[in-house]
Amino acid sequence: MDKFIIEGGKKLKGEVQISGSKNAALPLIAASLLAPGNHVLTNVPNLRDITTMISLLKHLGANCSYDDATLKIETDNIRGDDAPYDVVKTMRASVLVMGPLLSRLNHARISLPGGCAIGARPIDLHLKALSTMGADITLHDGIVEVRANRLIGSKIFFDKITVTGTENIMMAATLADGTTVLENAAREPEVVDLAACLIKMGAKIEGAGTDTIMIDGVKELRPLSYKVMPDRIEAATFMIAAAITDGDITLKDAPIDCLDSVILRLRETGVKFEPIVNSINVRGLEKPMGVNVVTSPYPGFATDVQAQFMALMTIAEGASVIKETIFENRFMHVAELNRMGANISIDGGTAVVKGVKGLIGAPVQATDLRASASLVLAALAANGTTEINRIYHLDRGYEGLEKKLKTMGASIERVPEGV
Ligand code: UD1
Repeated sequence: MDKFIIEGGKKLKGEVQISGSKNAALPLIAASLLAPGNHVLTNVPNLRDITTMISLLKHLGANCSYDDATLKIETDNIRGDDAPYDVVKTMRASVLVMGPLLSRLNHARISLPGGCAIGARPIDLHLKALSTMGADITLHDGIVEVRANRLIGSKIFFDKITVTGTENIMMAATLADGTTVLENAAREPEVVDLAACLIKMGAKIEGAGTDTIMIDGVKELRPLSYKVMPDRIEAATFMIAAAITDGDITLKDAPIDCLDSVILRLRETGVKFEPIVNSINVRGLEKPMGVNVVTSPYPGFATDVQAQFMALMTIAEGASVIKETIFENRFMHVAELNRMGANISIDGGTAVVKGVKGLIGAPVQATDLRASASLVLAALAANGTTEINRIYHLDRGYEGLEKKLKTMGASIERVPEGV
């Protein structure tokens, strides 16, 4: 497994291009299953999760080609309805093919999904919604089978806000009979991006971005042609990279409007922001202030930025209380940050971070995607050398992270497996 060797203490300076959003691209790729024909997605990031989704589509009978951030997908003969375990186990978002397959083929058969080990992460809300819409659901040997001759537009109330759940059911409802109303729907920008693409395909959707989404089923959809929105989590990670290294970074094409809660908290730590056309300049400071954070669904502070923000808080002035409310096992970076000299204690879903003078380089293990990013950030600020093992987690969700950091002056090397 590849590892990173990072020599800390360099102030990052320069420009960084924000890539297309992983979490927006994955449902958009799945949406191509809704209509036969030739689909084109641009600004698709080159990541392992995307490659996994492409493998899944190929398995389902699609022809895909990916070059220079453009993904072409031909979906005339979607014959397969079997999303196999070896593909699905690595990525929970594979479940996003369920809604489109059910709508188009009247049945879908997929293994229960895997992904980051950050909690139980069930798909009961996806299944309950499909069942309300008239689907028969059977579960056996780790496989879910859903069948419906026709999905019926229905009123769905999500007991808990679920991002991929909202996306899955929104896609399923586009071809259902009648009107579907999703209540307590996720308001994440990626849901809005998917709705915009589906509307371009001919779907009738209102209310995306609010907690009530209305979908009037249509008979058929056109192939999609769409540009994926930029990645707000990647942008937030680079903002924190500027903050933690007392750096000066300009983020190009960052989706600033989707980052209010992160920018607000970073401003409170003392970080300076200056919007420029299509860009934002972010300047850190020697000693940020400790600031409290509670994760919550959008527009709240994203759980996907919690680990990175915690890395910043390890060297802050004073203490910070970080409360994780979305996933129950999302503090796996804490033990590793403590190995680097941080002072963090956990009580249930709450972490208390007491700022220390500085972090010290150490060998650490990446445990999940965003935890890995937090270790990279900590290593950039630490004194000495940090060795981060198991960085395959990072490759799932960050495009060319070490290249981007290097061009801004970071000392970061990827050491391939076995070296
Ligand atoms: C998506 C994002 C992920 C992000 C998460 C929360 C993608 C591809 N991934 O994941 O990066 O961390 O949103 O913002 O977009 N839940 C249930 N039953 C369900 C579904 C969810 O109990 O059927 C629970 C989950 O265990 C979790 C909470 O609801 O506690 C939110 O999960 P959800 O929004 O579904 O996360 P994902 O869509 O998997």
